[in-house]
Amino acid sequence: MHPAIAIDGPAASGKSTVAKLIADRLGYTFINTGAMYRAVTWYMLEQGIDPADTDAVLAALPSVPLSFGKDGSRSIVLCNGSPLTEELTRQEVNDHVSTIAAIPEVRSLLVNRQRDYNRQEPVVMEGRDIGTVVFPDTPFKYFVTASEEVRAARRAAEGLTDSIAERDRKDSSRATAPLAQAQDALLVDTSDMSIDQVVNFITDNIQQ
Ligand code: CDP
Repeated sequence: MHPAIAIDGPAASGKSTVAKLIADRLGYTFINTGAMYRAVTWYMLEQGIDPADTDAVLAALPSVPLSFGKDGSRSIVLCNGSPLTEELTRQEVNDHVSTIAAIPEVRSLLVNRQRDYNRQEPVVMEGRDIGTVVFPDTPFKYFVTASEEVRAARRAAEGLTDSIAERDRKDSSRATAPLAQAQDALLVDTSDMSIDQVVNFITDNIQQ
């Protein structure tokens, strides 16, 4: 099993963009774990379940009709066999995903699926706890960040309204697998870097 490339960091730090490009360069599969937490959140909201009602979320969790697959070299999430796309970046999903992601049972379900991907092929996996929890033994860990102003500007440039500061606060303070830089992760502050510079820096580091 090839060691996974783990890329973690706060909201809108550019992780997804750089992780996808690094995966393309290396010929690996790109796995966006945020999409998995977003999909569970979207599904609960669709069912009229209050994300803050943990008992109701846990009752629905075993029968969630989501599956996790691939489209070419990137991960996708499907609901009843249909890929989810724009649903995942909706405002109400942004607003509630950190609440759903704080539930330990949701995390263990998704972490198992994340590890399954890496059993099949080499992956570049992006999220909040990849270096700390999902693949603590990989030697390839990167913590990609940027100043809050830069991150807010990047999200706005995507045409999306997002509660990034609030999500970061909740993601960093939860009891289970909080957003944190693994001790052995390399910090990459991308505030003054172009996407190409970040991709080159991390790819060179992996290959050296
Ligand atoms: O794209 P962005 O950085 O804004 O967020 P995302 O990667 O799509 O993640 C959305 C949310 O899912 C985060 O704010 C976390 O609450 C949760 N998440 C998590 O808890 N653990 C992960 N490995 C990935 C995402």
